[in-house]
Amino acid sequence: MQLKLTLLLTAACSLQALCANAKELLISPPGQPPLPTAQEASTSAAASGLNLTNIQGDILIVDVPSFKAQLKSGIAPLITSTFQLLPNTTDPADLFVNIAFSSSGLSKLGIANPDLGDNNLFQKGQFNGATNLGDLTSNWLPQFAGTSIHGVFLIASDTLDGVSATLSQVQSILGSSISESYRLQGQARPGDQQGHEHFGFMDGISNPAVNGFNTPHPGQALVNPGVILFGESGDPKSRPGSTGWAKDGSFLVFRQLAQRVPEFNKFLLDHAPSEANMTLEENAELLGARMIGRWKSGAPVAMSPLFDNLVIATNAQQNNNFDFSAPSDSSLCPVSSHIRKTNPRADFSKGNFPNHIIRAGIPYGPEVTDAENASNTSSTDPSLDRGLAFVAYQSDIDTGFETLQSDWANDPSFRRGYQYANNAVLQGADPIIGPNGVSRSPAGLDPSNLSGSITIMEDFVVSKGGEYFFSPPISAIQTTLSS
Ligand code: HEM
Ligand SMILES: *[C@@H]1O[C@H](CO)[C@@H](O)[C@H](O)[C@H]1NC(C)=O
Ligand SMILES: *[C@@H]1O[C@H](CO)[C@@H](O)[C@H](O)[C@H]1NC(C)=O
Ligand SMILES: *[C@@H]1O[C@H](CO)[C@@H](O)[C@H](O)[C@H]1NC(C)=O
Ligand SMILES: *[C@@H]1O[C@H](CO)[C@@H](O)[C@H](O)[C@H]1NC(C)=O
Ligand SMILES: *[C@@H]1O[C@H](CO)[C@@H](O)[C@H](O)[C@H]1NC(C)=O
Ligand SMILES: *[C@@H]1O[C@H](CO)[C@@H](O)[C@H](O)[C@H]1NC(C)=O
Repeated sequence: MQLKLTLLLTAACSLQALCANAKELLISPPGQPPLPTAQEASTSAAASGLNLTNIQGDILIVDVPSFKAQLKSGIAPLITSTFQLLPNTTDPADLFVNIAFSSSGLSKLGIANPDLGDNNLFQKGQFNGATNLGDLTSNWLPQFAGTSIHGVFLIASDTLDGVSATLSQVQSILGSSISESYRLQGQARPGDQQGHEHFGFMDGISNPAVNGFNTPHPGQALVNPGVILFGESGDPKSRPGSTGWAKDGSFLVFRQLAQRVPEFNKFLLDHAPSEANMTLEENAELLGARMIGRWKSGAPVAMSPLFDNLVIATNAQQNNNFDFSAPSDSSLCPVSSHIRKTNPRADFSKGNFPNHIIRAGIPYGPEVTDAENASNTSSTDPSLDRGLAFVAYQSDIDTGFETLQSDWANDPSFRRGYQYANNAVLQGADPIIGPNGVSRSPAGLDPSNLSGSITIMEDFVVSKGGEYFFSPPISAIQTTLSS
């Protein structure tokens, strides 16, 4: 049996929500919510029945061979659990290895008909649903086409040397039982851009808190563990394996999202609003902040509409403390902004909905070069490709990523079930991650014309493909999947 694996390598932990404070591994930008300590998490998790040593800390992509023996004896002991990443853990990890499998990979390992109760999305694979995600498959990398990737390794360390050493270890354990089909090297941005994605905005600020694991900060969503983990309370589906081998697993959605940074910056300048007392550059910053819904520091425009505010940005008690309800129009935060499209908070079902994901992506690719900046154009040199290695966890791809991308971000008329359904302003598509290859008209971006929309004829984020994976519980790696 020959398994094809894709490797996603990062030089810093990418599961920011779960490991932002694990200091050996992680960047820990101010403002990202702190984790509970190992002791606190164990206490609250024990109370709710969560087994933190059995939940993988994070994943990257792979493909598998005769592999089961090595999986059991060599790889299973390397897998990093969430417990090992908590602050003050009694079992600290200095490297980070996780593995997850696509549907075709699980089939290879003998899991028959692995739809895992997910409306067929997982089983079909991401490529077969790409059009529904708003992708142009002509932009997809050939490695992601079809269902040929069987799995993914996620390898992280605080240094590139650590990543290389860990990769060598994994390769020597698995030998020819796997072949590597693809590798993506994550790259945290340098200096004061640490924790920021390539457009310059702080990322990883808003993830849901998980009931029994951490306490929500003001404004942060609190979800039942089953929204993220198979078979825990709140899992919307009863599905194969969710009370057995697959319990505590999670679907991992991986996407390689290229970012066209010079084009984005030019767009901001060319469509800058004209707020009095602001320079062109300040107006361009304002437009960018309104497209995301946060300033580059992370401060929400809902709380600081005209100027960035570092005090709010870096205070986890404040930087999620808004819900778009007062006022509910676009005057503070545009209805089309990325964070409002992907987490409508009080706009939708009074904030009570199960459509939450835990995001754990990391930037990849080099910084913008002077030549690209000067020409307002991204280079076509593949070595200068940059963007976001998007990783998101949820127990149900349909309820999670798929709803956020297809039904919310891409749908210009999304306001179904909105508390403010009479609002005549349609949202338009998400100005950041809306569909590729079609013009988008996100509403409310111009503060002097809240009922208008700006037409965007180009893609700032280009999907280069991805796959759906199942991140199994460590117990399944030790038993069901390796025997
Ligand atoms: C290159 C592509 C993307 C970029 C540059 C980007 C950027 C950002 C930024 C800067 C934030 C604000 C920081 C934070 O709240 O953590 C954010 C939040 C968020 N993004 Fe993205 N994102 C991208 C892709 C996606 C995709 C594909 C999805 C899902 C379909 C997504 C879903 C979310 C969600 C759910 C939030 C949090 C909203 C909230 O709870 O307030 N993002 N993103
Ligand atoms: C971790 O332990 C150290 C020393 O025991 C202590 O000073 C620190 O406050 C602890 N950190 C947390 C987050 O509890
Ligand atoms: C612009 O700045 C001037 C001088 O500080 C001030 O008097 C005026 O009210 C400001 N206008 C706006 C629209 O903020
Ligand atoms: C891009 O170039 C402009 C001047 O042409 C400069 O002001 C700006 O700082 C540059 N941006 C980056 C990211 O290098
Ligand atoms: C880049 O775009 C900015 C904003 O439109 C413009 O001022 C500048 O002249 C452009 N540079 C080039 C080389 O086209
Ligand atoms: C607002 O924008 C719309 C287009 O989106 C335009 O038709 C309308 O004239 C604009 N209103 C003002 C006052 O600029
Ligand atoms: C938690 O999971 C680990 C790893 O599979 C296992 O060794 C341990 O017995 C489990 N603990 C409980 C309380 O179920």
